[in-house]
Amino acid sequence: MAFAGIAPSILSADFSRLGAQVAEVMAAGAKVIHVDVMDGHFVPPITMGPMVVDALSSEVHAADGVIDVHLMIERPERHVADFAKAGADSITIHAEATPHLHYTLGAIRDAGCLAGLAICPGTPVEAVGGVAAELDLALCMTVNPGWGGQPFIAGSPARIERLRAHLQGPAELGAEPDSQPAGSTVVEVDGGVDARTVRLCAAAGATLFVAGSAVFGASDPATAYLELAGAAGVRAAV
Ligand code: DX5
Ligand code: ZN
Repeated sequence: MAFAGIAPSILSADFSRLGAQVAEVMAAGAKVIHVDVMDGHFVPPITMGPMVVDALSSEVHAADGVIDVHLMIERPERHVADFAKAGADSITIHAEATPHLHYTLGAIRDAGCLAGLAICPGTPVEAVGGVAAELDLALCMTVNPGWGGQPFIAGSPARIERLRAHLQGPAELGAEPDSQPAGSTVVEVDGGVDARTVRLCAAAGATLFVAGSAVFGASDPATAYLELAGAAGVRAAV
């Protein structure tokens, strides 16, 4: 299944050669390209919008990859259609960004994308409870959203475990964290992921690992991707 493994975040890429940077990591085996959208309101920085997704989508899809859009924007329901039209395969919204979570997650699925919900480090994992049935992905922020290159928050693995428990149906409670059942919600982590912390996240039950500076901040992003994939237990491309 495509939504697993290391998801390089283009936030840390060289934007003057964005297509080439994406091609480098995909040639090394990356299948999930993470796009961080920031609006200057939900988080202070302003980054990119649907135009960047549109510019990358042909290249990513031609290489059998997917585009994982992380919306760090207020009232994301106003922008779902534009990102879906641009080629997003998944759209993740923040639990703190709109009072209309159920509606927005439904709109994302109706637009043909996987629906994700992200929670900031200060948000109780119980926030996913009311919409667990509407979720394809649950993103546990392991830094405060807004910037790449921040240190991993130490209490995150315990939150990942609790998040998984809130997503699981009664029959799955007590299952081993590394045995995510087919069709269940993907648990994604984002922030401060490197060769050490990716192991902690995997042990806690995450299966999709966003990495920005650990990939594109390295002198050779393809090698950095492969090292992270190895640390996470992801099979390298053959
Ligand atoms: C932060 C973003 C992340 C960011 C992670 O708000 O959501 O996706 O790119 O960057 P690193 O991996 O450098 O912490
Ligand atoms: Zn992100």
